[in-house]
Amino acid sequence: MAKMWAGRFKKELDSEVNAFNSSISFDYRMYSEDIKGSIAHATMLEAVGVITKTDYISIVDGLSGIKYDIESGSLQFDMTAEDIHMFIESELTSRIGDAGKRLHTARSRNDQVALDMRMYLMSMMSDIKDQLCALITVIADMATLHTDTIMAGYTHLQRAQPVTFAHHLMAYAEMFLRDYDRADDSISRANSLPLGACALATTTYPIDRYMVAKLLDFDKVCANSLDAVSDRDFCLEMSSVLSIIMVHLSRFSEEIILWCTSEFKYIDLDDAFATGSSIMPQKKNPDIAELVRGKSGRVIGDNMTLLTMMKGLPLAYNKDMQEDKEAIFDAFDTTSLCLKTFAPMLASIKVNVKNMRDKASLGFINATDCADYLVGKGVAFRDAYKITGELVALCIDNACDLETLSLSDYQRISNIFDDGIYDAISLETCLCNRNVYGGPSEEQVSRQVSILKNKLKVMI
Ligand code: ARG
Repeated sequence: MAKMWAGRFKKELDSEVNAFNSSISFDYRMYSEDIKGSIAHATMLEAVGVITKTDYISIVDGLSGIKYDIESGSLQFDMTAEDIHMFIESELTSRIGDAGKRLHTARSRNDQVALDMRMYLMSMMSDIKDQLCALITVIADMATLHTDTIMAGYTHLQRAQPVTFAHHLMAYAEMFLRDYDRADDSISRANSLPLGACALATTTYPIDRYMVAKLLDFDKVCANSLDAVSDRDFCLEMSSVLSIIMVHLSRFSEEIILWCTSEFKYIDLDDAFATGSSIMPQKKNPDIAELVRGKSGRVIGDNMTLLTMMKGLPLAYNKDMQEDKEAIFDAFDTTSLCLKTFAPMLASIKVNVKNMRDKASLGFINATDCADYLVGKGVAFRDAYKITGELVALCIDNACDLETLSLSDYQRISNIFDDGIYDAISLETCLCNRNVYGGPSEEQVSRQVSILKNKLKVMI
């Protein structure tokens, strides 16, 4: 394809250099935003008297036809074109002639690409918000069923204190809710119109940037033309939002992988979301969760690519910035794929309630409650802590646990104990007594689940 800027050059671009320079193989996906932006630009140019009504009409007809032909498959992207912007403009000119050559008045690819990227990524981020809602809905539905499913809570991956499966799940709901807010926030900061900045210093034509902003549904207009064409902080911010989502998904995946080991057996994966081994017939592997965990590295890497690409660039536009696309598109594609696969996988797991409860009885997760029982009888916490430590050591020697240690053994360590200790350390009591806002008691978690369900009603 002949270059639009060929006038200043004496030689044709070497074909390998052309391929190196070209971005159409990955920026073609912004064709719809590019056309929408061009139609808004042409509408404004006509309104302020820079182009005639006749030219305006043929530009809009031409661009609409191009969009139609791309979507119906009758127009293929030319992979030798420099980028999607050049491709559409030259296709337009070949269809409508001189009017097509007037479209780029008072515009540069620098503000055009910044516009397309903002529009495209805002819409991708809004899809991510929907996918987060779908995942949070799965969590809320599952939590509703498990507010009394007792499970060991861990610190250092050692059994620590009793919680419920619902409480554990709801921790992830909180993380994904914050992710949703961050996604929303990143959209609001990207929502500013760069068009009109032109190459770097606006234009001498009497353009109306507010009109274009209104036509394209932007809340604001970028206030500094150099900033408008040269920052990609919306990409940095969005890729960091996506990285955080992936970190949350990755931690959740790690737990799912652990929970379906024979050692834990807290859950079983549905056959539709697990795979077998080519050699070991007994295997049922949690590949989906492992892939989500693995792909988090990719998205974090994309974030690093973008930060590193931007950090040394002088104002204003530099071609380095063309490198923003593959990284940010990959971050979006990967995160979206993971969210879409993870949610139904989670919805399909079978929870082994009894096994979770049985495992929770091991490992002295009620030791803090034993100490609290003594505190309730007037013992200072540090003394109570020491007495309970001795009881745990005694249990280990006797190969029993606090529930099965005899009252006489309790009283051998401290005569303050009476048979009320057994009720005080039952896991049900331990949970019920943790009835503090944010705690794992059935009452607290049920309340949190219904708050969450109400939030989801306005989010979806
Ligand atoms: N394909 C380019 C990019 O993605 C478009 C902007 C080109 N601008 C320029 N002055 N060469 O960044």
